[in-house]
This record gives sequence, structure tokens and C-alpha cells, in this order.
Amino acid sequence: MPPRTAGSIGAQKIVLGSVGSTNKSAADLIRLSKVQHGAVIVANEQTEGRGQRGRTWQSHPGLDLTFSVVLMPGNLRAEEQFVLSQVAALAVRDTVAEYCAGEVRIKWPNDVLVDRRKVAGILIECELEGERLRSVVVGIGINVNSSEFDEDIAATSLRLEHGSPVDLELVLDHVLERFEHYYGMLRSGREQLSEAYRQWLWARGRWADLLLDGQLVSGRPMDVDAHGRLLVEFEDGKVAAHGLDRLRFAPR
Ligand code: BTN
Repeated sequence: MPPRTAGSIGAQKIVLGSVGSTNKSAADLIRLSKVQHGAVIVANEQTEGRGQRGRTWQSHPGLDLTFSVVLMPGNLRAEEQFVLSQVAALAVRDTVAEYCAGEVRIKWPNDVLVDRRKVAGILIECELEGERLRSVVVGIGINVNSSEFDEDIAATSLRLEHGSPVDLELVLDHVLERFEHYYGMLRSGREQLSEAYRQWLWARGRWADLLLDGQLVSGRPMDVDAHGRLLVEFEDGKVAAHGLDRLRFAPR
């Protein structure tokens, strides 16, 4: 992979041993002005990996990838932040697809699944300055060489899908290259970015079990709107857009 030019995603790479959470390390480094836009903080081990909705993220030291990308998006407004979810999820999806024969899709908002099993998760944390995003930390966890998961979690890894061990560095490089590609589309390719996200949206057009305000309902995900809300067709034929505050996929 050619060296990255200053300011590009991954041009500044900070490799750490054991940390609580790379998202936390990234936020600390931003506060200390030690990192620039595009910096990547990678850890061999996370002792307090954070997941979505206050959950923890488990990974195996030396076997999996845990890293955070620092973004300083300039003029992006807080209400536009879903585009960063699209960028990150597509970058990870493309990378995972290189190693897997199964279908690799994005489960709204930004889980990456191989068939029905989760292989990667993304946690985005933002600092605001008025209505603008001052800095954003995109935390990415990919199950690369792990082969054992809690029984109650439908998870998989690149190794399990690929059939042999996978090089962590190559996976990281691939994600960063795709990240740069999709991030570049924020300037003039937003429609194509949304189209790519829609193309890979898990369960699109299929009936799925959802929880709406805690109630189990059946709905067909169709698309995502500009605010990142999932557009769903319900059994009564009505289509409505809901955010994560009200809607989620029912746990299986
Ligand atoms: C999820 O699916 O729940 C999101 C998981 C995000 C995990 C990554 S690992 C690197 C970064 N640091 C963290 O503490 N969390 C994210």
C-alpha cells in the first residue's frame, strides 16, 4: 500500500498496547491537540471496549482489530452526521466482503453482518461546536481471527468465514483505503454514498422483526433518510421514518 499523504485517513497512525478504549484514547489525544484529521489509533487490547447503547465490546488481544479514526470534518453540521456512519459502514463492509463468501450487509445503523452473523461494530462519538461537528471519533471493532464467541451472540469472524488466519495489518489498510474513498464522496458524491448504503442495507425489502417503542412489530426496511432514520413499511401499508430513539431490530 503506498504511503498516505498528510491529512488523509491513516496518515498518522498511533499503535498502542493495552488501553481501556481506543475511542477514549482518541478523545484524550484530540483534547491534547496531539492528533490531526485522519489519525488512526489502534490498540492490541481493549480492557473497557465500548459498544452501542452503553454495552461493552469484547475482542481478543492480538486476534481482532480495535481502532478509532479521528475526523475533523470542518463544515459538517451535527444533523448531517449520519453520512459518517455511511462512510464507516461501507468501508468496513467492502473490506469484510474481500474475505467472505457469504453475503455481507450493513444492519442499520452500522453493524456489519455476514449472512446473519455480526462481524464488526462501529461506535461514533462526536464533539460539537455550536451546530457543527468539531471532532468525531469513529470506533471500529472487527472480529478478525477470533473463533469463539458467547453462545447468545450471533457472531462470526473473518477467519471463520475465510477458512484460514487473516493478516490484521492488511485488513486495517483495506478499511482505511475504503474509508478515504467514501469520505471523499462527502464533497460531491453524497447521492452515490446513500445509494451504496441502500444497496447493502440488511433486510431491505424483507419483513423483519422490529421493536418500535419497545413493542414487537413486523416491518420492511426500505431506505434511510438524510437524518439517518430507517424508513420502514409496516403491515398496514404505511411507511414511516424512525430513529434509534424509537426503533431497533428485535434481538434474535
Ligand atoms: C457495537 O456494535 O456495539 C459497536 C462496537 C464498537 C467497538 C469499537 S472497538 C474500537 C472502538 N473503541 C471502543 O471502545 N469501541 C469501538
